Amino acid sequence: MNEVVKVERHDAIAIIKINNPPVNALSAAVRQGIAAAIRSVSADPEVKGVVLACEGRTFVAGADITEFGKPPQSPGLGEVIAGIENCPKPVVAAIHGTALGGGLELALGCHFRVATKDARMGLPEVKLGLLPGAGGTQRLPRAVGPELGVKMVVTGDPIGAAEALKNGLIEEIVEGPASGAEAFMRKAIAEKRPLRKLRDDDSKLAAARADRKIFTDAAAAANKKNRGMDAPLACAEAVSWTLDVPFDEALKKERESFVKLVSGDQSKAQRYAFFAEREAAKVSGIPDGTKARPVERVAVLGAGTMGGGIAMSFVNAGIPVTIIETGEEPLNRGLGIIRKNYEATAARGGMPADAVEKRMSLLMGKVGLENVKDADLIIEAVFETMAVKKEVFTALDKHAKPGAVLASNTSYLNVNEIGSVTKRPQDVLGMHFFSPANVMKLCEIVRADKTAPDALMTAVTISKKIAKVPAVVGVCDGFVGNRMLSARSKQSEKLLFEGALPQQVDAVVTKFGIPMGPFAMGDLAGLDIGWRSRKDRGIKSEIADALCEAGRFGQKTGKGYYKYEGGSRSPLSDPDVEKLIIDTCARLGLKRRTVSDDEILERMVYPMINEGARILEEGIAARPSDIDVVWLYGYGWPVYRGGPMFYADQVGLKHIADRLSFYAKQNNDPSLEPAPLLKRLAAEGKTFASLAAKAA
Ligand code: 3HC
Ligand code: NAI
Repeated sequence: MNEVVKVERHDAIAIIKINNPPVNALSAAVRQGIAAAIRSVSADPEVKGVVLACEGRTFVAGADITEFGKPPQSPGLGEVIAGIENCPKPVVAAIHGTALGGGLELALGCHFRVATKDARMGLPEVKLGLLPGAGGTQRLPRAVGPELGVKMVVTGDPIGAAEALKNGLIEEIVEGPASGAEAFMRKAIAEKRPLRKLRDDDSKLAAARADRKIFTDAAAAANKKNRGMDAPLACAEAVSWTLDVPFDEALKKERESFVKLVSGDQSKAQRYAFFAEREAAKVSGIPDGTKARPVERVAVLGAGTMGGGIAMSFVNAGIPVTIIETGEEPLNRGLGIIRKNYEATAARGGMPADAVEKRMSLLMGKVGLENVKDADLIIEAVFETMAVKKEVFTALDKHAKPGAVLASNTSYLNVNEIGSVTKRPQDVLGMHFFSPANVMKLCEIVRADKTAPDALMTAVTISKKIAKVPAVVGVCDGFVGNRMLSARSKQSEKLLFEGALPQQVDAVVTKFGIPMGPFAMGDLAGLDIGWRSRKDRGIKSEIADALCEAGRFGQKTGKGYYKYEGGSRSPLSDPDVEKLIIDTCARLGLKRRTVSDDEILERMVYPMINEGARILEEGIAARPSDIDVVWLYGYGWPVYRGGPMFYADQVGLKHIADRLSFYAKQNNDPSLEPAPLLKRLAAEGKTFASLAAKAA
């Protein structure tokens, strides 16, 4: 029919084949090709049945996201799907890989669906700040029932073939997708199966008509989980139309809702985040064709907070891990925590009970660094001091096999210096995971001056394999994430001296969409760590020091910037803290003032953006979008705000530079002066996005 859609004939069966690598997205050419193919097979009297299949690694994975925001091209997807549904010959979708978004909507327009056993099907539009825009909100609930339907649309999570079969989304599980679908079609023709048009099938809706609670429950759950996001609520509402809005009218309303969301700021940010994540995995400045080294076994040093979570991430992906400690006691404690974590997940129904033993069997506990000798990748997660790191890397140099990649999970330390104690600095890099490491998706990969390209590729490739999002960064104090966080911490502390209270600052930050404010976060991490480190360095922080001197170390002591009652983790404002802050200011002769929420927000976010500009200028991050990826996946930056650098572009760099200059003067703080790069872009009326990629 055209370059990307062809029709094959196997006697009375026509096979429409889509071939639009890499994921068969529904570009305008694909839509035109399918529409033409359906017209042609409809008109061909010899054709008795039709198979809709895809070449390559997957069935259609959705609309072509790159077309959103551009002038629409005909035919629209809804029109193509209506063409399939109204085709007088039976049409079966042959699903393999992932049928997602518009891809599943296309399949739902077919009269039948079959899938291979490893296929996955879902409507992930909500994750892009959208709702399904081509009938998915109306046809999916008719196929699987409104309860599962609303859950799939609101969460965007796909289901596997077995669940799809059980719930009536597919007719059969087949071996080869196209051949299996063809065999199914021959059977359907022989049996004279009536064409099942989902638009006309309300059989599964009756029960829900009596009880609309599933929709209000889904909307409430969406609201709780995705605070501040428009799409999940729009999704729940659209699915509820299946109950009382005629099909064609519901499609119209769905379309209107889609158009509104697709042109809104939230979806724009979420689509940006989708591509930013994929871009971050492309490492600049390494020779084409650089291959990752094979990784079959991993060693993790340290079974503490981070070592345990890192080990779990590998085990979860089926990669065996040796976890190494200094003695039996910390080793057994660490292994015990991992087991408990798995058992808790199994008890919650998050994994089958027998998976606990399976995962634990991939984990070998050992005492002594000589046990790293079989590992292809070694990740050090021991105490955060340069002396200990150097001692460990000197020992690794002695015991690790040649070619093993030696990674440090350090939060701040200089990876060049760590590598310098080895005779193989080309194999040394940082793999900075975030706590809890088995949950948080980010892995900041720190490229040291001498890191070899293939060692870097190994870290990037393995991170993706264990379902992390890699972002390559350069060496500096705190790398990208913690360095920007430090800029924010400096301001949050200052705000307390100027007149704000912890609960006010945290409320502004959480209202913006970040899950935790700086003071609640401090309480969670433990205030004593910073206090000890300040004492060692002879630095004072009057309010934080006074809290620690009063035994308020945070959640672990039930009191910090907040109080925590009855073992709860919910922070409660504490009048004692307010008094302590006011008394400290009085003692230091500081006059407090009312600080507005607007000022708090600007001083929490703009200094971070300023630090991001310095990071770009120094080449510590190659692209502004890499910085955004760090914040989205490491610190819970709200995806509907795209990341700090994307947010900056939306606000306007001139405004940000002006406000920073203002705060620099107001507070007599030169560190708040706009960074040269920010100043230049602001003066030129440009955005961060306008910057070309630079090597990290
Ligand atoms: N449109 C355009 N490009 C897409 C795309 C899409 N829907 N899906 C993936 N791509 C691109 C990626 O950007 C990437 O490009 P690159 O190689 O240049 O970086 C390439 O395809 C491969 O993608 P991945 O690296 O993500 O490959 P994986 O194998 O890891 O994952 C996938 C495959 C599961 C299909 C994943 O790409 C994915 O989740 N895609 C998005 C699915 C989606 O959200 N679909 C809904 C779209 S909205 C819609 O359909 C609206 C409708 O209701 C009207
Ligand atoms: P932790 O104190 O919980 O665990 C460290 C473990 O290392 C202890 O169990 C200790 O017995 C073990 N250890 C010490 N020396 C060792 C050696 N020579 N060989 C083997 N094991 C040894 O510390 P945590 O929090 O897990 O931190 C580890 C590293 O991860 C640090 O570099 C830290 O900066 C970094 N990190 C910590 C994060 C966090 O939120 N806790 C986040 C990201 C990085």
